[in-house]
Amino acid sequence: MREQLRTIQENAEQELAIVSSMQELENVRIKYLGKKGQLTQVLRGMGSLSPEERPAIGQLANEIRSYIERKLEDTKKMLIQKEKMQRLQQESIDVTMPGKRRSMGKKHPLSIVLDEIKDIFIGMGFQIAEGPEVELDYYNFEALNIPKNHPARDEQDTFYINENIVLRTQTSPVQIRTMEKHKPPIRIISPGRVYRSDAVDATHSPIFHQIEGLVVDKGVTMGNLKGTLEVFAKRLYGEQTKVRFRPHHFPFTEPSAEMDVSCFVCGGDGCRVCKGEGWIEILGAGMVHPKVLRICGIDPEEYSGFAFGMGLERIVMKRFGIDDLRLFFENDVRFLKQF
Ligand code: PHE
Repeated sequence: MREQLRTIQENAEQELAIVSSMQELENVRIKYLGKKGQLTQVLRGMGSLSPEERPAIGQLANEIRSYIERKLEDTKKMLIQKEKMQRLQQESIDVTMPGKRRSMGKKHPLSIVLDEIKDIFIGMGFQIAEGPEVELDYYNFEALNIPKNHPARDEQDTFYINENIVLRTQTSPVQIRTMEKHKPPIRIISPGRVYRSDAVDATHSPIFHQIEGLVVDKGVTMGNLKGTLEVFAKRLYGEQTKVRFRPHHFPFTEPSAEMDVSCFVCGGDGCRVCKGEGWIEILGAGMVHPKVLRICGIDPEEYSGFAFGMGLERIVMKRFGIDDLRLFFENDVRFLKQF
């Protein structure tokens, strides 16, 4: 029996030496120490031994059991260590491999010019105001002195969410929202998206951008309007720029005007960009209508103000010589990369 035990020990040791996975390790454990394992079988046969032999053999068997258990434990640790090393090797990063080149995006041409315009007005003490694109009919039309059957509604046909809610056709509703919330002095610009149900072509899009401006204080005059907008034009297009105001009509300003700038390409002689005119129209403006002030709870006897609004796309198209407005919204990098 002593012989048998020795053989078991040697065999177990040899097998453990070549174990290479947890599963194999478990198989060895079962083979020797399991319920039907070889060592267990031997221990079961102890009954047939003489009482003198029994203690010595028993002790030997126990020693061998602990020995095999220790070996199993050592082998397990070794396997875990080996697996860890393998994983580390598999997951190692080859720092000498060439990297993936990520191309940097660029500022959209609309953002380039909008940022310039914001900077100019912020430099003159204006703040940026915002309003919702999904707007009440009241703010987009009614409070701006454009009642239900006013012809101005035809020019600014829009998308109706329901009878009272529209996608705003202009940034002018932000004038009303600002005057409702804040007491004068007010000096804001409000850039944002606007919508009109126009068919898409080279100069029309159902979505485009406007920048609104509003100044309300005591004693604001048409002279302030002209001076402010002239400074703006010179900062945007250069000191040599001239401006001219033509009478116009907007329901919410009185008097109203449109402002042209001398063509920044030809200086006024006439060229392709100004279509031979020498002048480029860039914005609408006027003195805030007393009715509009009153609707917002501002006393027109005490306060006056001016407002202006411009379309961003037109300005950017002229600026960069872009002849198709659709390019702004197609997001083709070949176009966007040029600015
Ligand atoms: N909201 C006007 C438009 O879309 C522009 C404008 C703004 C005119 C402010 C006067 C004052 O045509």
